[in-house]
Amino acid sequence: MNEANAPLLDRIRSRSARIGVIGLGYVGLPLAVEFARAGFDVTGFDVDERKVAEVNGRRSYIPDVPESQIAEVVVAGHLRATTDFSKLAEMDVADICVPTPLRKTKDPDLSFVVRALQVVAANLKNGQLVILESTTYPGTTDEVALPMLSATGRTVERDFFLAFSPERVDPGNPTFNTRNIPKIVGGSGPASTEAAALLYSQVVSTVIPVSSTRVAEMVKLLENTFRAVNIGLVNEIAQMCHKLNIDVWEVIDAAKTKPFGFMPFYPGPGLGGHCIPIDPMYLSWKARQSGFECRFIELAGQVNGSMPEFVVSLVAEALNTIKKPINGSRVHLFGAAYKRDVNDVRESPALDVIELLWRRGAIVSYTDPYVPELQAGSHRLSSVELDKALAADWDCAVLTTDHSSFDYAQLARLPLIVDTRNALKAHAGPNIIRL
Ligand SMILES: NC(=O)c1ccc[n+]([C@@H]2O[C@H](COP(=O)([O-])OP(=O)(O)OC[C@H]3O[C@@H](n4cnc5c(N)ncnc54)[C@H](O)[C@@H]3O)[C@@H](O)[C@H]2O)c1
Repeated sequence: MNEANAPLLDRIRSRSARIGVIGLGYVGLPLAVEFARAGFDVTGFDVDERKVAEVNGRRSYIPDVPESQIAEVVVAGHLRATTDFSKLAEMDVADICVPTPLRKTKDPDLSFVVRALQVVAANLKNGQLVILESTTYPGTTDEVALPMLSATGRTVERDFFLAFSPERVDPGNPTFNTRNIPKIVGGSGPASTEAAALLYSQVVSTVIPVSSTRVAEMVKLLENTFRAVNIGLVNEIAQMCHKLNIDVWEVIDAAKTKPFGFMPFYPGPGLGGHCIPIDPMYLSWKARQSGFECRFIELAGQVNGSMPEFVVSLVAEALNTIKKPINGSRVHLFGAAYKRDVNDVRESPALDVIELLWRRGAIVSYTDPYVPELQAGSHRLSSVELDKALAADWDCAVLTTDHSSFDYAQLARLPLIVDTRNALKAHAGPNIIRL
């Protein structure tokens, strides 16, 4: 504690600090609810009026956040949402959870972060703590956020505090949530780190302070690059095993019995979601600025990016067994979300599989209880009801997402199905083509 951050620390300890969460999506909404459940006065800020209305109407649009939890904190007056960013001036903490996508050129698109920082800077007051949670390249907090906030004439560590704390939430994971996932915190200086660490320790069981914002930013990118590269490796092994006529799933299951030095990753139709396909590109972009080529990231990107095409080749193989071409065949996908039990289709490989099948002349449809409608390239589709889809006479089905609500015994009885998730492992037959 120093003189500068003492009042803020007191307010955090007594839970009288007012917390603003900017961006109420998959990351921001669960975080806002956790702070509110801990007794803080929380205001969620979003540019999306519908999300603001949903929160204030006590409705949840994120599967991991139960409606009852939102209702409890909104009714108790601990949480509200607004599009009025001038209210940021009333906050002790501004926590930024806005998207960090890629541009078409695959370069980082920081425009959402910059817009959020503009309003934070316009409403910055002495003693405030600003935290960036959006995943981004190492250096963003120092090189982008700090100059924008300092331009208000204030000095970090004295007049305001600044930290980066990567979000590690795993949507749809029933075991790990905002509370029990350890939180990394790196500040612009010791007073900032201390304030941010104290804040998160009110709602998260383990907080790990690191020496700088850059380290905290890099931690997140190492974690997600590790996943992307290992998934890339196992996807290449899966393609190799297909050529060698070896069951890759059996190989992984046996390999993971080794009690040390091996961690199972599983092949699939490709990477999806807002993190694994995108975050490593933030790192390789930043490294390239310093003349460093991240070969692992590039290679993993190529292999993972080839998986939808590989799935389509399996569909062609499957249709070949019944003497049909892809062109003109009715192919039905089970699952559009990028992973099990979530409603998120961002970067979902199912969209690529749909597009690739279309280009080859297939008549494509899908069923996903979490995704009533989707846009794949220039095509807009509505989900076919599960019962109807199971009873219909498709030429070939493709299991693209292993939602727990699917009846796998019934799926295994379809005349022809390509299983990209090994969800039909308990079933065998010439009608099942496994990735
Ligand atoms: N979804 C995940 O599983 C996950 C996990 C870890 C980290 N992250 C990272 O967290 C960040 C947020 O991801 P997300 O999945 O929550 O995104 P999201 O799209 O679900 O939510 C972002 C929200 O920010 C709002 N927004 C956009 N611009 C805004 C602005 N200027 N001011 C206020 N609100 C604004 C959007 O309307 C949206 O509601 C990203 O950097 C992402 O990489 C996501």
